[in-house]
Amino acid sequence: MTKYGFIGLGNMASAIIDGMKNSGQYDMRNVYGYDTVSSKANECGVCACDSIAQLCKTVDIVVLAVKPQILPKVLPEVKENALQALIVSIAAGKTIDYLAQALYENAPIVRVMPNINARVGASTVAFCANASVADEQKKLVETMLCTIGTVTELPESMFSVFTAIAGSSPAFTYIYIDALARAAVQAGMPKAQALQIAASSVFGSAKLVMESGEHPYALADSVCSPSGTTIDGVLTLQENAFESTVHKAIKAVIEKDKRL
Ligand SMILES: NC(=O)c1ccc[n+]([C@@H]2O[C@H](COP(=O)([O-])OP(=O)(O)OC[C@H]3O[C@@H](n4cnc5c(N)ncnc54)[C@H](OP(=O)(O)O)[C@@H]3O)[C@@H](O)[C@H]2O)c1
Repeated sequence: MTKYGFIGLGNMASAIIDGMKNSGQYDMRNVYGYDTVSSKANECGVCACDSIAQLCKTVDIVVLAVKPQILPKVLPEVKENALQALIVSIAAGKTIDYLAQALYENAPIVRVMPNINARVGASTVAFCANASVADEQKKLVETMLCTIGTVTELPESMFSVFTAIAGSSPAFTYIYIDALARAAVQAGMPKAQALQIAASSVFGSAKLVMESGEHPYALADSVCSPSGTTIDGVLTLQENAFESTVHKAIKAVIEKDKRL
């Protein structure tokens, strides 16, 4: 039985652990955790380890789930004690090269980028692996990540783009949903009701794009009836640079990510 160990039991680790639990595919007696706050392992429902060394010596897959700035503290201990384990890092912005230099020679490393929607099992996740990762190890990671959402293998060179359109874009979408709701409030609808309606409409639109396979512009055209109401709204968005503003926001994220 493969043993999994999480270093850092914060928001993202607990979302993945919840995904594993809810999937019913894992015996949680094979899932371990270490956090500086010792009560967190119990709260997450994993077997508690007293140290990083103990965790690394116990498990087959070590998941690095601390903040990126904490990694330099954690990696030397991982290097010393995880001599054969597969290393999975979810730390934003930390490349495979960076991790490889801090770990034992030829360590198998998988870099993962989840997004915040993991909290409801609807994350959009990318991963890439170095040449030391065996196919069956890749499969194990992919299966674990599928418990929190949709998983895509991507070349590492695309991670900045992924960060923009999947890591950051939920913030844009939340703001868009709120803007729809506030506009409804201005037109007289109570905010709580408007939020539910706006969020449901965004959710349904995403589902239709994904399930119909139709081009988003074809779907937009199908909503715009001749001399109807929607075309006036679409035109107002175009006049106010809706699409080019989205492009600028995505470009800003990619450029910032590359500078980090
Ligand atoms: N949250 C997201 O939406 C998201 C999305 C993509 C990627 N990520 C990545 O996921 C990683 C974790 O993020 P998060 O949001 O889950 O952060 P978090 O909630 O702060 O979790 C990190 C956990 O690690 C603990 N910790 C700190 N130092 C430690 C050490 N030396 N050894 C063991 N545990 C230690 C922290 O304890 P204290 O709180 O006591 O310091 C905390 O419980 C980050 O690298 C982040 O870039 C997160």
